[in-house]
Amino acid sequence: MLNQIKELAKRLLAIVWIRRTWQALARAAAEVFGAHRLLSIPWSLLTLATFNREQFAVLRGRREYYRNLSRQRRSRTELRRNIHRLEKGISMQPRRPVFALDYLIETIEFYEAAVAGFTPAAADSGPCDGQAGGELLWAHNVLADYFSSVDAEQPLVAQAHTRFRATFGRFQPDRLDHKPYARSRSPDCPVGWDDLMALSMRRRSVRWFKPDPVPRELIDQALLVARQGPSACNRLPYQFRIFDDPDLVRRVAAIPFGAAGYSHQIPTVAVLVGRLDHYFSPRDRHVIYVDGALAAMGFLYALETLGLSSSVINWPDFEPLEAKMQATLGLDYHERVIMLIAIGHADPDGLIPYSQKKPLELLRRYN
Ligand SMILES: Cc1cc2nc3c(=O)[nH]c(=O)nc-3n(C[C@H](O)[C@H](O)[C@H](O)COP(=O)(O)O)c2cc1C
Repeated sequence: MLNQIKELAKRLLAIVWIRRTWQALARAAAEVFGAHRLLSIPWSLLTLATFNREQFAVLRGRREYYRNLSRQRRSRTELRRNIHRLEKGISMQPRRPVFALDYLIETIEFYEAAVAGFTPAAADSGPCDGQAGGELLWAHNVLADYFSSVDAEQPLVAQAHTRFRATFGRFQPDRLDHKPYARSRSPDCPVGWDDLMALSMRRRSVRWFKPDPVPRELIDQALLVARQGPSACNRLPYQFRIFDDPDLVRRVAAIPFGAAGYSHQIPTVAVLVGRLDHYFSPRDRHVIYVDGALAAMGFLYALETLGLSSSVINWPDFEPLEAKMQATLGLDYHERVIMLIAIGHADPDGLIPYSQKKPLELLRRYN
């Protein structure tokens, strides 16, 4: 049905007078409703269907955020955010004698809930993490660092410290890392500009692949790089849904318009899904796209270093496609697709567009 509508629209727009009339109407509407912010209000009512899914997704994310607070989870976004804020306070120059009072008790509550749900078996002990209870260890050591850095006499600090110590019976790691450290302790940068430039030139959007399957270990290796990307308050509010079952790949890759004509030969496809349940405030609604894109860039470069090629596939905010992807992947409304990524071993004879970049003068402006 959708394809038939698409075909019909394509055919109609190929008729010159229809395309010109449509463009003239669209332009006139943009001139009128885009003239002033107030005029955009009736326009947004007219285009309610276009934006309602996103609005609902933000609201649904907020609902899930609050519901999650009382759910046991392997990772707690609210704890991650506050521990991140404490790390910033600890790293501040000069460090203040007392800080974080406005969210300290809340942080201890989040931490107590996380410790209550801790079982060594549920800890991040997978081969990718190689450390028990990574998030909890980090939270514990940052909190311990905080209490040793601020004025212990301050009543709120003393109260929070007592509650923190009360959790030791259930979780008290003996590792001292996972807390702010001096930059001088970072290993030297092993990659020079020349190598990075060569990698960035080597990476091109590749759309034609050999039929060879993509080893999952390589995908996981690339994801280890992806997750090192910067992320607002270190929440990492996304999930890479990887499809390598041939039938599923075909179904999923055929959903967006952008892979038409080549989706049938993509060996593996990743759907990057942003999760709005990481936020209680609509003001953070765009962060999934920023964090997701930063992770995706690391992922693409890492794939390249592993001998794999890739191409981003656009995800338009378009109701029929959203509904189809939601049903295919079993997504909730607050789970928003950011992009798809086709992955595989490049067909060496397949052509890739040259894709001339813009001159630096257009891309940057100092001061
Ligand atoms: C957000 C985004 C959406 C894209 N959508 C598509 C798409 O739907 N189909 C496609 O074949 N390529 C898509 N691409 C790939 C771009 O066409 C490609 O990155 C661009 O032409 C530059 O080429 P390069 O990646 O080889 O440097 C997309 C890239 C981005 C970043």
